[in-house]
Amino acid sequence: MDNRKKGLEDVIAVETKIAYIDGIKGILAYRGINVADLMDYSYEEVSHLLLKGYLPDESELSDYITTLRNERELDSGVIDILRICNKQADAMDVLRTAVSYISQYDADYNDNSVDANTRKAVKMIAKFPTIVAAFYRIINGLEPVSPDSELGHGANFLYMLKGTRPTELEAEIMEKDLILSAEHGLNASTFASRITASTLSDIHSAIISGICTLKGPLHGGARLGAMNMLDEIGSIDNVENFVEECIIAKKRIAGFGHRVYKTYDPRARVYRNLAKELSYEDAENGWYEIAERLEDVVNREFVKKSAKIIYPNVDFYAAVAYKYLSIPAQLSTSIFALGRVAGWTSHCLEQYEDNRLIRPRAKFIWRIYDK
Ligand code: ACO
Repeated sequence: MDNRKKGLEDVIAVETKIAYIDGIKGILAYRGINVADLMDYSYEEVSHLLLKGYLPDESELSDYITTLRNERELDSGVIDILRICNKQADAMDVLRTAVSYISQYDADYNDNSVDANTRKAVKMIAKFPTIVAAFYRIINGLEPVSPDSELGHGANFLYMLKGTRPTELEAEIMEKDLILSAEHGLNASTFASRITASTLSDIHSAIISGICTLKGPLHGGARLGAMNMLDEIGSIDNVENFVEECIIAKKRIAGFGHRVYKTYDPRARVYRNLAKELSYEDAENGWYEIAERLEDVVNREFVKKSAKIIYPNVDFYAAVAYKYLSIPAQLSTSIFALGRVAGWTSHCLEQYEDNRLIRPRAKFIWRIYDK
């Protein structure tokens, strides 16, 4: 089988009104709005845009924010589950477990109507940050911090994580991080969610499929890989050696390359500026300088090796920003999920709306079986 078919490269599997991507020109738009133009909106507005198809007016936004903020709190059963999770587990595994538990106690359990699925979607968007933050507090011997209804989505997450209100810059970066992570067409995890939804399974199950798929190092797990890689490189003087060793060992460089973008990932461009801004506030840590140098060396070496540039993707400069924000690596992929849950749930709702079971076929390879 040729390699392109193997990875379903360029195959159109569904029609969507949610995201537009042009991998040649480097364009990403949510519901027709360029993602770079959404940077001054809140995650709450953007998640409304993705779920409902339009940016809310003032009164719709106020109602939506009230609903979201009222749903942030976790019941004691979820906290008990978090307490018995493995302290060393990646937060993605814990998120998967918590969503599975929450689904069984949802007031709309057994109701697969559009209204019930929309309510479940909003509850997941609201609760994901609380789950990840509470898990982090528990494994560090601290009590979970209750959500602060005065704070926006990103700021509240950082507050629940650290127990103190974030600075304006930290809050702004986290909000933008969630917006940039919110949606990306038929990426692997969204496809996994849509496949589950296409069987008419419930939306919680579909989102768990998305979580499991995002975790992989070729997808959202690259954010963790990129954070670990920055630690491994440690200093700007080690960049050249690191790249050389990767090329010799044929090892993939986390946070570089993309199936769809044949140019600079538009999200990486925004993250790069955010990481640079953070680096001005923190002269001691040279993460941004290491990252910039790594990008240059990867470009130079891959052009030499294969006459093509391998550009940084969304995960690379996100990892740099996380280093400045002191985000623990154990949480890095799950923070991607806090943003992406809006995209996953929007795609599930779209799938339910005009469903046909997604069921491709495999080509059987004949062989003579020996005993
Ligand atoms: N490091 C080194 N080489 C790379 C990288 C990389 N990060 N990415 C692609 N290549 C090379 C491959 O080795 C291959 O070279 P070859 O033709 O000489 O064999 C060529 O580029 C094409 O690679 P494919 O794997 O066919 O490209 P594909 O479209 O399947 O890969 C992927 C996309 C999986 C993202 C890849 O670029 C990769 O593994 N990147 C590292 C992991 C990563 O950052 N993933 C996050 C992606 S963004 C997201 O999911 C949120």
